[in-house]
Amino acid sequence: MSTVYGSNRSLQEIDKAGLVHSFSSLHSQKDRDLVIWDHAEGLWLTTTEGERYLDAAAGLWCTNIGYGRKELADAAAAQMTRTSSIHSFAQFSNEPIIRLTERVLELAPDNMRRIVYGNSGSDANDTQVKLVRRYNNVRGLPRKKKIISRMSAYHGSTVASGSLTGIPLVHRTFDLPIEGVLHTHMHDFHRRPAHIDDMDGYVRWLADELEAMIQREGPDTVAAFIAEPVTGAGGVLVPPDGYFRAIREVLDRHDVLMIADEVITGFGRTGAWFASPEFGMGADLISVSKGITSGYFPMSACLISERVADVLYGETADDGLFGHGFTASGHSVAAAVALANIDIIEGEGLLANALRMGDLLLRRVREAVGDHELVGDIRGKGLIIGVEFDADRSTGKPFADPTAVGSLLSKSALEEKVLVRGGHGRVLAAMAPALIATEDDIEEIVRRFVRVVDRFADKLTASGLRG
Ligand SMILES: Cc1ncc(COP(=O)(O)O)c(C=O)c1O
Repeated sequence: MSTVYGSNRSLQEIDKAGLVHSFSSLHSQKDRDLVIWDHAEGLWLTTTEGERYLDAAAGLWCTNIGYGRKELADAAAAQMTRTSSIHSFAQFSNEPIIRLTERVLELAPDNMRRIVYGNSGSDANDTQVKLVRRYNNVRGLPRKKKIISRMSAYHGSTVASGSLTGIPLVHRTFDLPIEGVLHTHMHDFHRRPAHIDDMDGYVRWLADELEAMIQREGPDTVAAFIAEPVTGAGGVLVPPDGYFRAIREVLDRHDVLMIADEVITGFGRTGAWFASPEFGMGADLISVSKGITSGYFPMSACLISERVADVLYGETADDGLFGHGFTASGHSVAAAVALANIDIIEGEGLLANALRMGDLLLRRVREAVGDHELVGDIRGKGLIIGVEFDADRSTGKPFADPTAVGSLLSKSALEEKVLVRGGHGRVLAAMAPALIATEDDIEEIVRRFVRVVDRFADKLTASGLRG
């Protein structure tokens, strides 16, 4: 047991006694053996015990350039030495954040004009809520404030972004969602309502449901719709063809903004700098975080389109100052790290690699486990892939207790020393390896995953949770 920082208690003991782990069961914390990382390189993580794990999830879908890149460490060290912690409130600025702004706006969809920086995906979506409110206040439409999100969406865990999230465990016991946030249906063809059997009909139904919700609420009260281009934590759900175009038509009819939450998809995950244009989202606002620094330094950004910027910059003295921002908004070190990260993504052709390796991973996973009796659906886009498990493959019947069954799956993956992400309310293995993955990495992920599925099947039989 390591005692590197002076105390003679083990790291396990200190952690269990003091640290609250995100998205975990607090009461079982003391009984669970922790996996404590010591160092990481490429797609591999090594524990303090010297055990190596293959990370098929890029951390929390974020280390796009892989672990251990010295270029980012050098950029951070150089900028820390130069400017340490300086802010960008009022008239103060710094060169890296200015250069980053220019670079991101060049890479972003053509209609994007301005950027507000923050530190996490959650705060980016909180900022979007405030931008939308201010937009309609400046327009003289104080009633037009509601935001429609979707069930199963993940947009963060703060009070506002957690409300936008459509996953019950983020709401329950925290008194969320806040007033003015609504959730319509998610596209989820595998779990579609029984009366729908074709994709076009499904898209129509989803758009009609949104239209009906806006009509019920009153179009003069609905301000924005928020969606991930590819739903991540909620199940790796790729939108059906035409889905976002149909949604966009509904929004346009009622003067409702589209917010694209590109916290996972931004900066290469689907093979493009931004995923929303390919799906025809026509975003008015875009949130990014994770991929902008590959998770090496906390940073987020809200991109503001011309349509919204024109209104915000048309404010009058009565609207007051733009009273929003954080100490670390526009942090020079984060910006320097982001620039070095974008250089690597561009210089190493990682967008093209994400497409090639994504196709390979999807094909190889389908070949390897596509016929397995527990596998209900395999889907993906670029380097984000989901394998969903069903209690009964022939009828698509889901498991009665997805949390308990999902934990058998996670346990199996840990035992095979491969990291995948689970799902909420469904039994899912999500894979989103770093965009630097090679063919050998993909083959190794698939080899391990086959063993994970076998282990999982054994555990499931032994548990009696199958039904
Ligand atoms: C699509 C999406 N939006 C927002 C967030 C929240 O980001 P953060 O955890 O940095 O607050 C996440 C995190 O996984 C995400 O996947």
